[in-house]
Amino acid sequence: MEYKVQCIGVLTSGGDSPAMNAAIRAVTRAAIYNGIKVMGIYRGYQGLIDGDIRELTSHDVSGIIQRGGTILKSARCAEFRNPEGRKKAYDNMQKAGIDALIVIGGDGTFTGARQFAQEFNVPIVGLPGTIDNDLWGTDATIGYDTSLNTIMDCIDKLRDTATSHERVFLVEVMGRDAGFLTLNAAIAAGSEAAIIPERASVLEQIEEAIGQGRRKSKNSSIVLVQEHAIEGGAQAVAKIFEEAHPEYNTRVTILGHLQRGGSPTAQDRILASRLGIAAVTALLEEQRSIMVGIKNDDIVYVPFSKAIKQQKDIKDDKWTAMHILSI
Ligand code: F6P
Repeated sequence: MEYKVQCIGVLTSGGDSPAMNAAIRAVTRAAIYNGIKVMGIYRGYQGLIDGDIRELTSHDVSGIIQRGGTILKSARCAEFRNPEGRKKAYDNMQKAGIDALIVIGGDGTFTGARQFAQEFNVPIVGLPGTIDNDLWGTDATIGYDTSLNTIMDCIDKLRDTATSHERVFLVEVMGRDAGFLTLNAAIAAGSEAAIIPERASVLEQIEEAIGQGRRKSKNSSIVLVQEHAIEGGAQAVAKIFEEAHPEYNTRVTILGHLQRGGSPTAQDRILASRLGIAAVTALLEEQRSIMVGIKNDDIVYVPFSKAIKQQKDIKDDKWTAMHILSI
């Protein structure tokens, strides 16, 4: 039987990320361009369960490319994890006349999408929207570059006060289980050290960071700590630091959700725009259960199973660069 998508539902789910709006705009306009109706689903999977669904016009997505956050709102939806929740979601999808979905989010979003697609035979395409950059098969995720720039700006500011007061600053950076934001921000902001979960023995990394500070003629240092590298994050590292070296004047800064906000960079807007259009094309080509990503500036299609299950590596040369440049 020939299958033709006539109405796409779009949602954003999980932690928001800058340029999700640019992605919504691209999906909406690419669909309308191809004669397909678009329905906006509010608050991620929760909106599907509650039937919080409204049609999006080209005008509805005007003036949003520069805005952080998501006009569709976002949520982490526990109800979608159980079969009853997913059945409700499917019924509402049918009621709204939606025959395919584009979901914008990260690991949790794709895990839910994969299961939903398998249970109800729904065509779903995913867009990688997360500041964590932790999805396999894409060089970058939507929002990662903006977040990285935000972190860099914050560290530049902390550097001023760290130098004035001759202090050690331990700066906690987000990333869930991944160290991409932390390591890349450390290189970009010239941090003295970074502590990330992908490198063995976090305690050794801390020791090294302490030694690094002492060996140096520098009178202040900035150490980035990935939020889950060690239980307790930067506060826990501070305790170890202070015990080893009470003479250090140590301060902790937790950047927190600042890292998720702000107007997206040009790079993120362009990425979101390209991937949004590619997601609609993928549905028209009858692809399903895939994430649309970017590799060497080319659009790629990656099965959900790989995007969420495979570990994306931290490049060794970046780890080395951070060390060489912090002497
Ligand atoms: O996945 C994005 C992210 O910001 C992670 O970096 C962080 O661990 C988590 O979400 C925070 O989640 P919440 O907004 O629910 O506190």
